[in-house]
Amino acid sequence: MTAETIYVFDAYGTLLDVHSAAGRLSGRIGPAADRLSEIWRTKQLEYTWVYSAIGQRATFWELTERSLDFAIAASGVSIDDETRAQLLDAYRELDAYPDVAPVLKALKERGARLAILSNGDPDLLERVVDSSGLTSLFDRLLSVADAGTFKPHSIVYRLAVEAFDAPPQAITFCSSNRWDIAGGAKFGFRSVWVNRLGRPDEYPEMPPERIVSGLEELLTVAG
Ligand code: LAC
Repeated sequence: MTAETIYVFDAYGTLLDVHSAAGRLSGRIGPAADRLSEIWRTKQLEYTWVYSAIGQRATFWELTERSLDFAIAASGVSIDDETRAQLLDAYRELDAYPDVAPVLKALKERGARLAILSNGDPDLLERVVDSSGLTSLFDRLLSVADAGTFKPHSIVYRLAVEAFDAPPQAITFCSSNRWDIAGGAKFGFRSVWVNRLGRPDEYPEMPPERIVSGLEELLTVAG
């Protein structure tokens, strides 16, 4: 790795455990907490794709609230207003995966430049990175809000190229979302699929350069 190495990370699902919000409140939600959380995430992503395809503007937070309301209705759980508000608060301060802080610190010590490129709104990214104690590690927090659409639209990935004034092939893009890796690979990034959940591969025309099961593997040279 050279001093110029640029790592750009997806946030939700890659650095942040999107299921930690419902996990924290599982005592209040009950046995349907996991199902609620799965529907919440799936619907949130669907909304981002549909709003992008149609060209309809919305903030990530609006879609996050609406997808939670859909998930509550669809999962049939009874959630009072206070628990709903607590779930949203927990989402604003999701847990980072345990490998995030040590690996990002190690990359930084090796001279890498680090950024987030996320669907998250700018204020949301600042808050969640701050609550995880990661702020000092990032050179840039890049939000799709500056592109006016969501991933995987190519103009979103261009934000990283512009931010670092570097060509796509000089940027290592890491995401646990395989569809996001498809977008990043097509754009020309060196893409690393962080396959945390051991999912089967897909999008064969847009493969990652490398597949890892966790961030520690970023510290070893690709074999
Ligand atoms: C993000 C979503 C896609 O952080 O996880 O952009």
